[in-house]
Amino acid sequence: MESNIKSRSTVIVALDFPNEQKALQLVDILEPYHPYLKIGMELYYQTGPQLIYKLKERGFSIFLDLKLHDIPNTVKGAAQSLTRLGVDMFNVHCAGGIKMMQGAVEGIEQALIPGQKKPLLIGVTQLTSTSQETLNQEIGISGQMEQAVLHYANLAQKSGLDGVVCSPLEITLIKESLGQGFLTITPGIRPKETALDDQTRVTTPQEAAQLGTDYMVIGRAITKAADPAQMYAEILKQIEGESR
Ligand code: C5P
Repeated sequence: MESNIKSRSTVIVALDFPNEQKALQLVDILEPYHPYLKIGMELYYQTGPQLIYKLKERGFSIFLDLKLHDIPNTVKGAAQSLTRLGVDMFNVHCAGGIKMMQGAVEGIEQALIPGQKKPLLIGVTQLTSTSQETLNQEIGISGQMEQAVLHYANLAQKSGLDGVVCSPLEITLIKESLGQGFLTITPGIRPKETALDDQTRVTTPQEAAQLGTDYMVIGRAITKAADPAQMYAEILKQIEGESR
């Protein structure tokens, strides 16, 4: 395959499960691969911090996907709490504005203890389930999706964030405008021949890697696969550009 595939793309497995037991079943299956794990609202609101402690104890990197969005002071406090949890990455909605995002940056700085690795702080631009029509007609933001995403990504960089969540289709624009070092975390990944579900702005893992994403978040394609370990291995192969 093409030689410009960036092997630096890391796969993050979204543990979108209703309880700890189901989540740990998948973690056990994937343990030999030691994947980066994402815990979102569904699971975290059920398990609380205990699951994070357990998974950190087992050495996993954790992206805590709670998409904070509140007044700056509240987000600052939440960022302090999440930093103390020891997660490796968490996120805020860019729609909260610069002061709110700066609040999160301050919260991290104030909660970090000596020797602790700073968690990556990521801004959510437009959800990958949002279509152009939804953006314009429901949410009320005019113009093209790419411009709306780039506008939010700009605010995130100005606020001191490490990168943004976006669709793989927006990686090139963001990297060209904001620099290669500004991270892109991309959900909306669908291996060939898997269902789109509720996502609209999608690519395959291989395309996302070619586009230079830093982290790709993959949920249902792995969690709902008949053989999740085989699917995970297959995705890694696709990223490396080997044929299916
Ligand atoms: O199952 P699927 O691969 O679509 O899961 C994508 C994951 O990424 C879900 O956990 C979803 O919450 C998350 N996500 C997203 N779009 C964003 C931010 C996060 O799909 N903009």
